[in-house]
Amino acid sequence: RSKVTLNTIRTLHKKNIPITSLTAHDFPSGIVADRAGIDLVLVGDSLAMVALGYDNTNELTMEEMLFHCRAVARGCKTPFLAADLPFGTYEISPEQALENSIRLVREGNVEGVKLEGGIEMADTIKKITTAGIPVVGHIGLTPQRSASLGGFKVQGRTITGAQKLLHSAQALQDAGCFAIVLEAMPAAVAKVVTQALKIPTIGIGAGNQCSGQVLVQLDMLGSFDKFTPKFVKKYTNAFETNTAAVAEYVREVRQGLFPAEEHTYSMRNEDDVKKLE
Ligand code: KIV
Ligand code: NA
Repeated sequence: RSKVTLNTIRTLHKKNIPITSLTAHDFPSGIVADRAGIDLVLVGDSLAMVALGYDNTNELTMEEMLFHCRAVARGCKTPFLAADLPFGTYEISPEQALENSIRLVREGNVEGVKLEGGIEMADTIKKITTAGIPVVGHIGLTPQRSASLGGFKVQGRTITGAQKLLHSAQALQDAGCFAIVLEAMPAAVAKVVTQALKIPTIGIGAGNQCSGQVLVQLDMLGSFDKFTPKFVKKYTNAFETNTAAVAEYVREVRQGLFPAEEHTYSMRNEDDVKKLE
């Protein structure tokens, strides 16, 4: 498989081939996404909640994001790799956003950045893309703004809400985004937005008419026994599988069954064992 570039993503979109996207947050999850054939890997700030145990994404610092980006980048070589700008690292000014985008590229070893927001982020996106850093937009349910959205709520369910999403998407395209994540909105709205744009949309809880799909890797692997949103499909149940495996290990150690012969080293010369004893 050859390296996925912006051209690859544009070609997939032009040919109507769905773009596959997934998050990764460390070295092994980066390798899994790469080996499984994902096109676009995102080091999403969801890592704050799913991998670091924070209550929300807004506690995540730039340093933490950089640390995780570097780990993902070491394992994830083929997909196009982009990272979220953490909350507080891009809202103050386009200059601040560019400075931190440069850090994600130089220190985090990612190729592009993603940021949340609509039409109000247009100047910021223009600033970053003009410097040669590819940007993914993100509209609909934007978790960093969940407080002002009144919680983790589906967006664009009214005609005014839907039209606002459409206008935002068009503004993000004009500002230079190469793709836009559409999160938690009616499938019908995502379809209209997708058809109105020249750039691909990547849906999460936005129906199957988007140009591609994204999920949080730990969610879709079923790594949690706690609540997951309606739009998450668990393709396996890692929580049950892993917990059962660790419980088996605990049982075998307690019963003296592990390690067995095949996990054990012997002396080069078995006669030496007697001398030793
Ligand atoms: O943080 C994240 O994981 C994301 C993706 C779900 C798009 O923003
Ligand atoms: Na995110």
